Amino acid sequence: MNYVLLGPPGAGKGTQAKNIVEKFSLVHLSTGDMFRDAKKSDKNISSLISAGKLVPDEVVIDMVKGRLHNEDIVKNGFLLDGFPRTVHQAQELDDMLRTENKKINAVFFIDIGNEEAVRRIAGRRVCVCGASFNVVMMPPKKEDICDFCGGALVQRSDDKEDVVRERLEIYDKQTKPLIEYYKNSGILVEIDGLKDEKHVFQQISEYIEKSRR
Ligand code: AP5
Ligand code: MG
Repeated sequence: MNYVLLGPPGAGKGTQAKNIVEKFSLVHLSTGDMFRDAKKSDKNISSLISAGKLVPDEVVIDMVKGRLHNEDIVKNGFLLDGFPRTVHQAQELDDMLRTENKKINAVFFIDIGNEEAVRRIAGRRVCVCGASFNVVMMPPKKEDICDFCGGALVQRSDDKEDVVRERLEIYDKQTKPLIEYYKNSGILVEIDGLKDEKHVFQQISEYIEKSRR
């Protein structure tokens, strides 16, 4: 089974993805994480991300295409987080999957308002090991120290408030049309993202469990 997490910056896609892939043995494909890795070596990508702009469609599509053939994905199924983000990316994804007789089984749209997104992102702190915390809502046991590896927690370069507002504007213009796109395909599942982490996970898990029966 293959799934997509859709939602604005700060909706909790990365937070939920970790739990979902573990419970259902899926492969987590986060284009944001992939770009943050590439960012270390690619100056163009680095400046786009830090300014809150989208990476050009063709670059993202090529990167995802390269990963969809991996053996673990073919065997276990995938959970896409942060892709697709434009209607063009969604159409290309559909084409890619169609040629391989695969499909997306459900798109979980995690909905939160823009002000909640800004509030959550302002408090987010991340570790190089991939762990993510929130100084208000999910604080680490020791201030600015990762619970898992003891590393220093930092703020993402694109988490400054002016950049977050730019990301939200781009989301409204370029990504929101995907809600209609997937509604029309009959695979959109609306999730109340304002609930706490556990309850958001419960909503998604229950849907996946039911659809697998
Ligand atoms: P990406 O990394 O995908 O960023 P994003 O979509 O902006 O989403 P975030 O990672 O900010 O939020 P999230 O939904 O994962 O929330 P999280 O779980 O961390 O993309 C980054 C950049 O890469 C883009 O701007 C673009 O430049 C580029 N890019 C990536 N994909 C692309 C594509 N397809 N096309 C073009 N460019 C692309 O949670 C946020 C905070 O809230 C955390 O602190 C968390 O602890 C807390 N939290 C989570 N859930 C809850 C809850 N239920 N209640 C309270 N707090 C919660
Ligand atoms: Mg994320």
